Amino acid sequence: MKVPQPVALALMLAATTAAIGVGGAPSVATASDRSPSSVSTPTGTNAPAMPLYLHPGKILASNCFQCHGTDGKGGPFDGIAGEPAAELFKELKELQATPDVDEAIMRVHAQAYTDAQLRLIADYFASVR
Ligand code: HEC
Repeated sequence: MKVPQPVALALMLAATTAAIGVGGAPSVATASDRSPSSVSTPTGTNAPAMPLYLHPGKILASNCFQCHGTDGKGGPFDGIAGEPAAELFKELKELQATPDVDEAIMRVHAQAYTDAQLRLIADYFASVR
């Protein structure tokens, strides 16, 4: 069956927003003062075994792969895999406000995410073994 393009686009958008929790009821905590442990994902350094591909931060984290490498390893810029989630989160919050011109790429990137999304991203990279 041929799906008309606008319908296909709408379906794709719905699937994407559902996956990352944009619009509608968010699937992850959005309050900026939540601690990482209150995000309801069994991950990070104390994580029970959970296949990485099921991690809820994967889609968001994949935006970082082109520069920091797939899963944060082996890219043209610094590897970020395996860093503790709290440290990564702190760095991303600092990068949001950096006045350093050399860090402008990361400032813009980091500014595009809510704290809850940054925690998910940080938790994803912390979970990479
Ligand atoms: C367009 C390329 C690009 C993308 C995409 C990108 N980064 Fe970066 N990132 C950089 C560059 C370049 C630096 C180095 C900046 C500097 O000189 O400190 C950097 C630095 C960092 C640092 C600090 C350095 C370190 O080793 O800890 C962190 C953390 C980081 N990025 C995380 C991320 C995350 C998370 C994402 C996805 C949300 C992301 N980056 C997406 C280019 C990118």
